[in-house]
Amino acid sequence: MQILLSEQQIQKRVAEMAADIRRDFPDDVHLIAVLKGAFIFLSDLVRQMSGKVSLDFMAVSSYAKGTTTSGEVRMMKDLDFGLDGRNVVIVEDIVDSGLTLNYLQEILRARNPKSLRTACLLSKPTRRRVDVPVEYVGFTIEDRFVVGYGLDYAEQYRNLPYIGVVS
Ligand code: IMP
Ligand code: MG
Repeated sequence: MQILLSEQQIQKRVAEMAADIRRDFPDDVHLIAVLKGAFIFLSDLVRQMSGKVSLDFMAVSSYAKGTTTSGEVRMMKDLDFGLDGRNVVIVEDIVDSGLTLNYLQEILRARNPKSLRTACLLSKPTRRRVDVPVEYVGFTIEDRFVVGYGLDYAEQYRNLPYIGVVS
């Protein structure tokens, strides 16, 4: 396993992202984590934020075949709470083609949040197939399939504390 981003690099950047989100929403913010990939990112992010913050979870399947996405997105688990009038930040592990995020933003915007932003730990801009806004980006990376820190390959490697490239 080749290490792309070390545990220290990730922790430092996640703390900065938490500060950015808190600065933009000092009074209250509602974080929505996209399962399963974002679970570790969310848990580190939220522990770096003081003050009021609430959480919800949703799961989508992007019908991934191997390491590429098919472009179809399906909701597997919906939110527990409504978004009406809330300051909402979607928390995602990675934006690749952007199709998953584009779908999520469309359906969540329809639920009438006061604001809707997105935080992604990783972004692969050269892979984008749809132009989707991401206000908080942790790291911009090249077109390589990465694992660890919540990200999987065939459900493995989510437990790594760093981001690596499978050889
Ligand atoms: P998109 O719809 O193509 O942007 O794909 C987003 C989803 O594909 C992410 O939420 C991940 O679950 C998965 N994905 C994309 N690239 C990678 C990667 O390099 N490693 C692991 N999962 C990835
Ligand atoms: Mg994901």
